[in-house]
Amino acid sequence: MTVTLRQALGHDLDALYRLEQVAFSGDRFSRRQLWHLLNRANALTLVAERDAEDLSPMRLLGYGTLLFRRGTRRARLYSFCVHPEARGTGLGRRLLEALEAEAREHDAEVLGLEVRVDNSVALELYRRMGFRPERWLSDYYEDGCAGWQMAKALLPEKEAAQADEG
Ligand SMILES: CC(C)(COP(=O)(O)OP(=O)(O)OC[C@H]1O[C@@H](n2cnc3c(N)ncnc32)[C@H](O)[C@@H]1OP(=O)(O)O)[C@@H](O)C(=O)NCCC(=O)NCCS
Repeated sequence: MTVTLRQALGHDLDALYRLEQVAFSGDRFSRRQLWHLLNRANALTLVAERDAEDLSPMRLLGYGTLLFRRGTRRARLYSFCVHPEARGTGLGRRLLEALEAEAREHDAEVLGLEVRVDNSVALELYRRMGFRPERWLSDYYEDGCAGWQMAKALLPEKEAAQADEG
């Protein structure tokens, strides 16, 4: 199966909403919130899209949204998921690497995120990708679960490539 990563467009709203329903078990974005994410100037969403020849009704297999704020070199990973049927195949890592590259292109020097303390898969993925816990967020999620704020320093493109080779 070929999966392409590209920037989300307005017409992705319905597919994004369907993905949001199956990928998260709580704290989901509403259609209206997703619409805002697709349309706000300081947000960037990448989607992972299945090949056009693939006739499966589930076209989008993952997405991630970055938020940028004026006056800071810190970008935020605001939402990030992979369709349950596509998990464990490296797509999450691929999407996150592409989001990091986008953050770098936007001159971000740090990428921050929040993650539930009981989300061991995401925690492990972030840890392996170089994110480190920064702050404990008690009672952070709608069910009262605590979270970790994590962050990663983003090396400039050239240095990141050298670090991968070494
Ligand atoms: C977190 C999530 C995006 C990972 O996506 P994925 O496509 O399964 O991730 P990958 O296949 O790229 O795996 C990347 C790493 O995650 C970890 N991982 C993946 N599946 C795992 C599992 N079942 N158990 C433990 N660790 C696992 C591994 O560390 C893996 O590293 P490796 O490639 O070196 O082995 C996905 O599980 C998801 O969408 N979860 C629900 C939404 C969510 O929690 N989003 C994050 C909110 S902060």
